[in-house]
Amino acid sequence: MAKVKKAWFCSSCGNESAKWLGRCPACGEWNTMIEELISKDTGGTSSRGLSFLTGISSKPEALSNITFSEESRISLGNAELDRVLGGGLVEGSMILIGGEPGIGKSTLSLQIPLHTPELLTLYVSGEESAKQIKLRAQRLGGDDSKCLVLSETLLENIISRARETQPQLIIIDSIQTIYSEALESSPGSVSQVRECAAMLLKYAKETNTPTILIGHITKDGSIAGPKVLEHIVDVVLQFEGDTRHSYRILRGIKNRFGSTAEIAIFEMLNNGLREVSNPSEMLIPMHGDDLSGIAVAAMLDGTRPFLIEIQSLVSTAAYGMPQRSATGFDVRRMNMLLAVLEKRAGFKLASKDVFLNMAGGLKVTDPACDLAVVAAILSSNFDLFISPRICFAGEVGLSGEIRPVGQIERRISEAEKLGFEKIFISAYNKPFKNEAKKESAQKKTAGGSIKVLEVNDIPALVKLLFK
Ligand code: TYD
Ligand code: MG
Repeated sequence: MAKVKKAWFCSSCGNESAKWLGRCPACGEWNTMIEELISKDTGGTSSRGLSFLTGISSKPEALSNITFSEESRISLGNAELDRVLGGGLVEGSMILIGGEPGIGKSTLSLQIPLHTPELLTLYVSGEESAKQIKLRAQRLGGDDSKCLVLSETLLENIISRARETQPQLIIIDSIQTIYSEALESSPGSVSQVRECAAMLLKYAKETNTPTILIGHITKDGSIAGPKVLEHIVDVVLQFEGDTRHSYRILRGIKNRFGSTAEIAIFEMLNNGLREVSNPSEMLIPMHGDDLSGIAVAAMLDGTRPFLIEIQSLVSTAAYGMPQRSATGFDVRRMNMLLAVLEKRAGFKLASKDVFLNMAGGLKVTDPACDLAVVAAILSSNFDLFISPRICFAGEVGLSGEIRPVGQIERRISEAEKLGFEKIFISAYNKPFKNEAKKESAQKKTAGGSIKVLEVNDIPALVKLLFK
């Protein structure tokens, strides 16, 4: 009788341990170890690393002898999607698309074969029956003659069907529903997800078939299953957006063949996802009213630029002690900015309550948000609104000067891409600005060019903003 082997896996990073641990020694997360059954003969899966690729015999080759042309990229019939991929799909690559339930992952992945009738696609769904997929395809429209549909969850069957039909593209919706017979743990568990992805990767690399995996995400927004999954795939894309609104953003998190600074914007309509080539239309409903106290900051989160709305309310203090409260922003930093406004720019805020809020429940640590925070506070104080097409990127120093911030060119190009008309930056950011100009001239992104306004201190900002 086969001996049942159990092991503990970290649900965050996939680290394997023989016993339960309160804290994962690999990633340092608490309470993430889950017990899973693993069968006897595959007990060594976790420790063999990428050795599953050894089936492919390859020999060393001079880099100069290897040819690769941009034409070998495969277009997915969708300009926005091609752009986040870095110009189309690379042969034999594996792409992981993550997102919340209902965001449109299945819709996007089914739209790909319908819009690329020249590619023979194997669409594997572990969530929907063939009839349900047909129903969705009818809704989406397009050419479904080259789209093979397989409603299957057993990995071994999927691979043998793929070998039979030799598709040019494989789509798996979703990796968490697929399981392998070799392992005894249930589908979606850490070891299953890892093993199935590894087997699919092996098939993709052997046959040079690009593969798209759909992944579920956990409550905290990371792709469910081990981090290992993100390491083995070539591209990780995250589908973001509010399911109550119709706009969706597909963002590159990792891309071995392109930049992760790119985003794709879609609108969910009755007949599927529409590409939004002019993203400024998306910002208008968000800023319908001419409200004071709102400013937009062009911030960076890790390496990813994005724009966030900062809201402020300044009112006369009802009690002797004015209240200062900030959500998503360091309250000490806000107090420092208020002191700067008071001392260096002569604004009397000492008897005012000041409330600050980062929209969308985000936590902001990027000092480049200072300028937008100051603008939002001033806007509420004067009760003068700031145009929703203006954004800010600058750090405020103790003497009231606007200091330069890093990667200004990426902030400017993101703001430009999102349809902003003006961006306020530090006057000392000059060298970066020239680069940005060059870059935007080369790229010629949608929405036209953005006007860059330089300010060196707070009075200069007030003069330009509220003239
Ligand atoms: P779906 O792609 O199933 O999301 P996921 O696979 O990420 O869970 O669909 C998400 C939502 O999109 C669903 O609530 C219905 C809606 N929808 C449309 O609005 N238009 C359409 O054409 C389709 C197919 C779905
Ligand atoms: Mg789905």
